[in-house]
Amino acid sequence: WDCIMEDLERDLLTFEGFYFHRKACDTGVLENLDDFELRDDDVFVVTYPKSGTIWAQQILSLIYFEEHRKRTENLESHHRVPFLEYCSRDIDFASRPSPRLFVTHLPYYLVPRGLKDKKAKIIYIYRNPKDVMCSYFHFLNTYPVYKAADTIDAFMKQFLEGKVVGNLWFDHIRGWYEHRNYFNIQFMMYEEMKKDLRSSVFKLCKFLGEDLSEETMDTVVRQATFENMKNDPLANNENALYWNFGPKLREGHFLRKGTIGDWKNQMTVEQNERFDKIFQKQMKDIPLQFIWDV
Ligand code: A3P
Repeated sequence: WDCIMEDLERDLLTFEGFYFHRKACDTGVLENLDDFELRDDDVFVVTYPKSGTIWAQQILSLIYFEEHRKRTENLESHHRVPFLEYCSRDIDFASRPSPRLFVTHLPYYLVPRGLKDKKAKIIYIYRNPKDVMCSYFHFLNTYPVYKAADTIDAFMKQFLEGKVVGNLWFDHIRGWYEHRNYFNIQFMMYEEMKKDLRSSVFKLCKFLGEDLSEETMDTVVRQATFENMKNDPLANNENALYWNFGPKLREGHFLRKGTIGDWKNQMTVEQNERFDKIFQKQMKDIPLQFIWDV
């Protein structure tokens, strides 16, 4: 554990109490978040890592870019919907055409100040934290973004102490939920998207004020399924990660399983009970619903 902590100190940086992946993080953006100039039609997707960020990137870019639906432009989803705080050094946000779409893992207290005036729209996607934890474990053991424990048991400790990018899952969701009235925000649940993608896309479009034809809606839904994204080099993140990690990659994929309830295959009964106790204590006053299995 000590050695993981030592490596973590090297790989992560802390800004205002929040962890960032040091190498990929654009500290210039972080330092100027208060002055970030928002446009009314900006859209921000906010997630805790492993909760469906890339899925949202794909869905939003399909909703907004005809070129993406028609596959006439050869841009990966992370260029269409860039991260605010990661790998953004070469992107000039100010000169991007509207509507600008962003994703971020930031906690509610760090996002551009103007968002609190309900200037732009925010979509917060959340997923049951057992699946988040298992997805995170596999992700960090496939892509050595930063040092992670190599057993679920040890990773559970790391996750429940919030020693990961995103910090403590409970704090992230609580912060956003309790401050929801300050923002123009729509909460979306990963599991609901998985169970009924079409209704979820419809709900998103309603929130965004986008009126899609039935045919366009069909295209968005079809191209945003797990199977389609997994086979789509513009949507599966494989190129970007290969480019970043190359020979260090271990076997696995960014789009790993995309299911609800995989935690049941990963966690022991004892780990699950331990997790439940903490969940119940931490979430007792947060009325958000969760889906734990299919
Ligand atoms: P698993 O590891 O459980 O498969 P993020 O983009 O926030 O890092 O989240 C990644 C997780 O979302 C992975 O979970 C990935 O498979 C899942 N995911 C990505 N696209 C998806 C889709 N179209 N449908 C369902 N799950 C998807």
